[in-house]
Amino acid sequence: MKADPAVRVSVFDDLEALSRAAAELFLSAASDAIALRGRFSVALSGGATPRRLYTLLASSVYQSRVAWSHVHLFWADERCVPPDHRASNFKLLSETLLGRVFVPEKNIHRMRGEADAEEAAREYENQLSRFFGPSSLPAFDLIMLGVGEDGHTASLFPGSPAVREEKRMVVPVYLDKPNFNRITLTLPVINHASRVFFLAAGKAKAGVIHHILDEGNSREYPAGLVCPEAGTITWFLDQEAAGKS
Ligand code: 6PG
Repeated sequence: MKADPAVRVSVFDDLEALSRAAAELFLSAASDAIALRGRFSVALSGGATPRRLYTLLASSVYQSRVAWSHVHLFWADERCVPPDHRASNFKLLSETLLGRVFVPEKNIHRMRGEADAEEAAREYENQLSRFFGPSSLPAFDLIMLGVGEDGHTASLFPGSPAVREEKRMVVPVYLDKPNFNRITLTLPVINHASRVFFLAAGKAKAGVIHHILDEGNSREYPAGLVCPEAGTITWFLDQEAAGKS
């Protein structure tokens, strides 16, 4: 792998160890941001991999270590489904975290998956401008991402115009059935974050991860285009995703 001080790759025995390490780093990112600015802004992803992390954060061991009333939860992407739909990323968080820790309602900034995708994307841009200020790109303290076998991240899929978006902060993504349409943060926003975490587990991810990390930001894959201008990336991999077993 090419050495880049802004990119750290950590490999763990399994998903449990990976999730615990990510929880620790989430807590320290939250404490740092709250100490510095009085709030912690984090954008969360869906998928199977982060479920354990979200559950851990809500557990008694971890939850008391975060001042949740200063945490602002955003979403990196959402499927165009109602918030109680099984495929909703908001629902994933409601099941794992939101029902268990006290995050004030006004700090929960969900994407409206039940609305028209274009309308919901515009609304979310307005929401970001109100929170971060209208004059510059949102500067998230942390954006948590996953990666698909095809190299997608958030809802930025290979070949989609959303990947090339340079101006908008949030865009709709129209996918063929049986997939759900999506709403996603764009690369300019992701690449303006202070920290990005990538969580990936399982053999199926090994190929794409090898390609992205060994080629150093391989531009073929949306996940390889994540490269925060002034931030860091931490990859949390299990042995299989790292191609070590
Ligand atoms: C989603 C995502 C998506 C996800 C990857 C990896 O809502 O599904 O934000 O980008 O992070 O598809 O998903 P897994 O963790 O399920 O492999």
